[in-house]
Amino acid sequence: MLRDLIAETRSAVALDAGWSPTAALVAEALERHLPTPGELTAEQRLGDADRYVTHLLHAEDDGSFSIVALTWRPGQQTPIHDHVTWCVFGVIQGVEYEELFTLDDSGTCLVPAGSAAAPVGEVSAFAPPGDIHRVRNIGDDTAISIHIYGTDVSRIGSSVRRVYDLPVLQLSSM
Ligand SMILES: [Fe+2]
Repeated sequence: MLRDLIAETRSAVALDAGWSPTAALVAEALERHLPTPGELTAEQRLGDADRYVTHLLHAEDDGSFSIVALTWRPGQQTPIHDHVTWCVFGVIQGVEYEELFTLDDSGTCLVPAGSAAAPVGEVSAFAPPGDIHRVRNIGDDTAISIHIYGTDVSRIGSSVRRVYDLPVLQLSSM
């Protein structure tokens, strides 16, 4: 239930344990209380033909965290980006594919640093730095994920710190 998720996230954030420990605690809360698609409205589940859509589900009054649902039609993806704060997300419908990157020493290229497909029920947590990533719906159906950020995204507009419009080095296995 979203109500339980909000309450447990509030308790975790109140411990003021730092970004990584807080993200780990919030991930446990999301695993326990992962909302179902049925808790979203039909409009929130629908998605958009042009791009993935963000729906604000909760913004904490003191600005300490917010919860959003992201709805992705097949093939839709984020740019490569990182965040201003910790982020926890869980997939509640479909499959999301996440690619991680690091900046090379010159800061002018991205280096692939791993990838994984996240099915329904999978919860992941990030705390900057080291959170440069791109997310894509690789399934044939609309995907939905719940994201919790350590800030009120409705106040600051977005949790994205930077979009990386840089070439990606192709790693050779040879
Ligand atoms: Fe992200």
